[in-house]
Amino acid sequence: MMPETTRLPTRELAQAVLLANYTRLPLTVVRGQGCYLETDDGRRLLDLVGGIAVNVLGHCHPEVVAAATSQLQRLIHASNLYYTEPQIELAARLVESAFPGRVFFGNSGAEANEAAIKIARKWGQRNRDGAFHILTLQGAFHGRTLATLAATGNAHHSDPFRPLPDGFRQLPKGDLAAVEAALVDPDREAVAVLVEPIQGESGVFPLEDDYLRQLRALCDRHNALLILDEIQSGMGRSGTMWAYQQAGIVPDIMTVAKGLAGGLPLGAVLVGERADVLVPGDHGSTFGGNPLGCAVADAALDVIVSENLAARARYAGAALMQGMRGLGSPLITEIRGRGLLLGVQLSVPASRLAEALLERGVAAKETREYVLRVAPPLVIDDEAIAYFLDRFADAVGSLRAP
Ligand SMILES: Cc1ncc(COP(=O)(O)O)c(C=O)c1O
Repeated sequence: MMPETTRLPTRELAQAVLLANYTRLPLTVVRGQGCYLETDDGRRLLDLVGGIAVNVLGHCHPEVVAAATSQLQRLIHASNLYYTEPQIELAARLVESAFPGRVFFGNSGAEANEAAIKIARKWGQRNRDGAFHILTLQGAFHGRTLATLAATGNAHHSDPFRPLPDGFRQLPKGDLAAVEAALVDPDREAVAVLVEPIQGESGVFPLEDDYLRQLRALCDRHNALLILDEIQSGMGRSGTMWAYQQAGIVPDIMTVAKGLAGGLPLGAVLVGERADVLVPGDHGSTFGGNPLGCAVADAALDVIVSENLAARARYAGAALMQGMRGLGSPLITEIRGRGLLLGVQLSVPASRLAEALLERGVAAKETREYVLRVAPPLVIDDEAIAYFLDRFADAVGSLRAP
């Protein structure tokens, strides 16, 4: 017999059976195609959220669907007790797209960062007499596991879950002297600097190229690792395959997830030779690097490269930025970002603009109280850009200053 609760309407049932840890919009999404979502009541929405910067290729991209279908019929999961072809191919492609190294696969961004943290700690034991502190920046977001919460350093996210693992220090953004002082602090010697080239969750703040170069130089000078979290900024979204490439540097470790596998859960850590310290038994994941996710990621990377979607992100991002700025609305105080990872800073709560957009057929969401994040699929075309700018103008016009 079905449990009693299944007779409730969908959203009441959701409240009865799902934990209350998400603030959800009152929408049930049933289908996605390209840059559009469809709800259970037949509404079609232009998707500016992109599954929180996941749907790089939009929804149900034909190459993604074909790769998934073919792999589903061949091999879904086998474990890491064996080699599987899609995993090896994907690792080779990632290395080729970024820097020489080797790859560990997990299932999410937080897991990728956890692995990077463990690698940095082991590297510290081997190379820095057991030093283990990891420096991160204020405004960072690295995930929701205990260690990545500690790396994130956001009291609102982490206070209910204390105590957190020791060994993380958040430093002010842009302050190189603070980083250098922390790197040489004899009481809390640091083995690594972990940063997002574009801070996404805290409101879309790109780090300056020169600042990234200086961080690289400081890590070299003080024998520490530079770990770049490209979980949100990667896969072409910033206008280059990886955002760090715009600064002309190479990290020791890079973490990837979100857009990696066309919407399937997959995370990766790319580790350069200097930091390659893991040996059998050090780390693992049952599902990590499963053939399904890897085959789809292979296909997704193919499309990103062959269709030059990084260049598309640059072009579309510039068009969106220009169009939104062109409104000259006093409610918009800044529009920043790179490629198709944009933050619209407002003088009114961004949730109000998100609501107004939703009423006009556009799914968008705030990332901080006063910042609307614009992270559409990289395949957004001129028609969808025009559609969005038209709705955006109307939605902004409907808001009154506080
Ligand atoms: C930069 C960054 N790092 C890590 C994460 C955590 O990824 P996940 O939610 O897949 O664990 C996120 C998620 O938003 C992110 O934006």
